[in-house]
Amino acid sequence: MRKHVLISIGLLALCAAAEYTEPFRPQFHFSPAKHWTYDPNGLVFYKGEYHLFYQYNPFGNQWGHMSWGHAVSPDMVHWEHLPVALAEENSVMIFSGSAVVDRHNSSGLCQSSDCLVAIYTGHTPTRQTQNIAFSNDRGRTWTKFKNNPVIDLGMRDFRDPKVFWYEPTHRWIMVVALPKEQKVRFFGSTDLKRWNALSDFGPAGATHGDWECPDLFPLPLDGGRGSRWMLSININPGALQGGSGNQYFIGQFDGTRFTNDNPPSQTLWADYGKDFYASTSFNNIPASDGRRVWMGWLSNWLYARGAHQSMAVHAVDSACVEAGHD
Ligand code: FRU
Repeated sequence: MRKHVLISIGLLALCAAAEYTEPFRPQFHFSPAKHWTYDPNGLVFYKGEYHLFYQYNPFGNQWGHMSWGHAVSPDMVHWEHLPVALAEENSVMIFSGSAVVDRHNSSGLCQSSDCLVAIYTGHTPTRQTQNIAFSNDRGRTWTKFKNNPVIDLGMRDFRDPKVFWYEPTHRWIMVVALPKEQKVRFFGSTDLKRWNALSDFGPAGATHGDWECPDLFPLPLDGGRGSRWMLSININPGALQGGSGNQYFIGQFDGTRFTNDNPPSQTLWADYGKDFYASTSFNNIPASDGRRVWMGWLSNWLYARGAHQSMAVHAVDSACVEAGHD
């Protein structure tokens, strides 16, 4: 199992822009031309392009005005920067989330047989809700759904929806964090608009911080012995060294509920280093490719703000971890 999970790779951003020849500009990891970034969002492969959205402040090099920045790549090595995809509006910030290919227009939002749908958290100081937006031009322009939010529990902390298609029950599954309760909640939907609560998981493992940016996906076991589901949960603070980090659980998912194979007291860390946070995996990489590819933020809240002020570029880039083949 382990070798399917942790094979580090980086991202070589070969960009012609002058910013990318700066002495301290990362050449091996993705960074936007300027301003603050951290969580990768909406990772999805669609029509020959890997889409990387990311938490972004279009107005400054500190956290604020959270929006989704956007870049595309044919190979996860060479990246083309695109305009901000989803911007803060009416004082609602665009927090982390995911994107799916709505392959059969289940949402009714596609102008042809399929389109991209983003599922993100709308944030105000008193409430976090789940919202959707759609694009009919390969992610170049986005429209927020007019009946947003699609889930509102009236909660202040309820964020980071990861959505994927679960074939056995023919429905979309969302895993989303209840950060202060150290829980994730699963929801199901047939159209990405109406969601039913299915079950909760947690607290378990590391619980001494906010649970954020969950992800859930199957991985093959070595030797063709079937598969297990990996539930990935980022926690801040709470990593090995006291800063932000990624823990995961291995178990079964039956379309409604995740069952942990290990005792609740066991904590598994994805990365023993400090620089892998808010990690999330790509949706829609073809099965023939065989990989599950993760990206995470290459920094840690132990030093992100300070490092950002003195070495801005280093504090804002992203790392990538690949769950690869043998
Ligand atoms: C993780 C996180 C997410 C949230 C986003 C806001 O770093 O706190 O939980 O959606 O950042 O910018």
